[in-house]
Amino acid sequence: MPRPWISTNLAISADGKISSVDRRPSGWTSRDDHARLLALRESACALIVGRGTLDADRMTLTVPGKVVQPLRCIISRSGEISADHPVFQKPGGPIHLLVTGDASPPPLPKVTFHGGSLAAFLETLSSDFGVKHLHCEGGGMLIRSLAEIDAIDEFHLTLAGHTLFGASQAPTATGIPADFLPRSLDFTLSHFDPRPDLGECFLSYRRAQ
Ligand SMILES: NC(=O)c1ccc[n+]([C@@H]2O[C@H](COP(=O)([O-])OP(=O)(O)OC[C@H]3O[C@@H](n4cnc5c(N)ncnc54)[C@H](OP(=O)(O)O)[C@@H]3O)[C@@H](O)[C@H]2O)c1
Repeated sequence: MPRPWISTNLAISADGKISSVDRRPSGWTSRDDHARLLALRESACALIVGRGTLDADRMTLTVPGKVVQPLRCIISRSGEISADHPVFQKPGGPIHLLVTGDASPPPLPKVTFHGGSLAAFLETLSSDFGVKHLHCEGGGMLIRSLAEIDAIDEFHLTLAGHTLFGASQAPTATGIPADFLPRSLDFTLSHFDPRPDLGECFLSYRRAQ
């Protein structure tokens, strides 16, 4: 099936967590990491996040100063998103909400609703909305779903050696540690930028063919 080229970006702690067990929001990494996040966001024509990350980080999914803003895609099973969330208040790209469960779409203004599977939604973004590069900003549960259907082409990672989150139920890059993926996916290291001054290392991996 056709789908956009898909990149992801995450920061992980020294013990492999993307957040604490009580879902600490973003802001625990360096300014350089935040600048990298914005640069990666700017390179995409559409952004995608899980509802958990949208809520925890109060995201608006916009790029400062960009004339043509990326599409903003939100994935939820429940469809439970508050109409007063900042993403619906701040001007930006068109908002697309995929609700994979049976719930009726919530009454949200200026939102295009989709049903069905994540894979079908990716195909729709490509074929109906011309999305060539979709960039995922997490969280772990959504990235796991993308990995399960082998739909990650590039994986950007900030290894944040200065932080330990602990807790077995804190989310990792593929969600709460549970079952292995259906199969291993090979990636090749394409960028390695250790920053001892920050206690961080910026990495990128490309899906190996
Ligand atoms: N360190 C980092 O770079 C980074 C990046 C992103 C997020 N985070 C952190 O990670 C935490 C959130 O992570 P999370 O693992 O809970 O992830 P998440 O994927 O953002 O949120 C989980 C929720 O998103 C929806 N969802 C995700 N995948 C879905 C799928 N395939 N189909 C249908 N719905 C799907 C569901 O929403 P419903 O409940 O509405 O059904 C699910 O409960 C937050 O604390 C956030 O700050 C950290």
